[in-house]
Amino acid sequence: MNEIDGQNSSHEEARWLISRLGAYLEQDIGEARALPMEMYTSKALLEAEREHILKREWLCIGRLEQVENPGDYFTVELFGEPVVIVRDQEGVLRAMSAVCRHRYYSVVEGSGNTTAFKCPYHQWTYGLDGSLRGAPYMGSVESLRSKGQSDRLPEVRLETWLGFIFVNLDPGAAPLLPRLADAEPHWHELDVESWRVSNWFDDIWPGNWKSAMETAIEGYHLNGLHPDIAAFMPTKSYSFEATSDQWTLFRMGTVFEGEFAEQGVYAEGLTGIDRTTAPQFGFFPNCTVSCTQAGGTWLTFLPLDVDRTRVIGGALVLPEIYEAVEADEAVREALAAYTNKINGEDASAMVALQRNAGSAYAEPGLLCEMERCLLYFYRYLAQQLERGINGS
Ligand code: FES
Ligand SMILES: [Fe+2]
Repeated sequence: MNEIDGQNSSHEEARWLISRLGAYLEQDIGEARALPMEMYTSKALLEAEREHILKREWLCIGRLEQVENPGDYFTVELFGEPVVIVRDQEGVLRAMSAVCRHRYYSVVEGSGNTTAFKCPYHQWTYGLDGSLRGAPYMGSVESLRSKGQSDRLPEVRLETWLGFIFVNLDPGAAPLLPRLADAEPHWHELDVESWRVSNWFDDIWPGNWKSAMETAIEGYHLNGLHPDIAAFMPTKSYSFEATSDQWTLFRMGTVFEGEFAEQGVYAEGLTGIDRTTAPQFGFFPNCTVSCTQAGGTWLTFLPLDVDRTRVIGGALVLPEIYEAVEADEAVREALAAYTNKINGEDASAMVALQRNAGSAYAEPGLLCEMERCLLYFYRYLAQQLERGINGS
């Protein structure tokens, strides 16, 4: 097969799979089935997901506490695009491409606090606002500019919501906040903005990003994969709450009795629905926030390949718990071990799926009502991909 034929057949494969996703727009729970295995293994579909969804959508990549002070920065790579998030000297939060305007090195990697970004290759230097400040042995920036040299790291769209930092690689994307405004009332009394990360995650899971997302947006698997959670948040306590074209939400009942009585103190201060249930949010395309009354787990899934997903996020806790955790290393380690164990249990589902992807016996089974949010995720994928391949 020559290159053109290869491109055409890969395009056809993506189109075929996208048309199959379209079936979910017509189906409800009771008839809808799991995604066909090819959805998790097709490189052509992943390419379409990257181009038409992930590079065009708002992605949750951090928390404000990572960039509290002027000069604080961290970097993230999004599908081959290195991006730096920085609070500049004036206190403005910015996201910029980290690709040097000289010869493509990354001007900065990792995280820290700085007054400028000095590219390690030839030491061109940029201010925290992204403007080129100097290029050794090459005259003034003014003279470089007069020769058509670009003098600024390109801005990447950035918005913040409830302490989360979102970026968007599409300069023409619609703003995020109006799209999430209708989700906000569903947090009710939970003051998510004040929560702090007690344990950061940055891991690579051996599976497809969609199966990672799926596990985090359904309540059906709690009894099976998470006996520790199910003890105070059993599968039977699931209830679907709401959805939009940008997010989906179910709740789990919380029972703070016996060994969990101590955790119940955080519920006691609440008076409404949050006292006895906790929201489990999915933000399309690739972010989830799963709550209890004492905090939550934020996860963002960034595909590296069809069977490799970078998972970033953190365990969020109430400010008073954060202080206690910071003060006591043993508590910190116990909390980290617990959240890492839960994450490992979720990762095991995607590992199993990927391992069995080649099985001749694998066929999509019917979805349970407790997996309703998956249906909305599939509809979202279908609509975004349809729009993308039709160029609208
Ligand atoms: S590539 Fe950055 S200074 Fe040369
Ligand atoms: Fe889970």
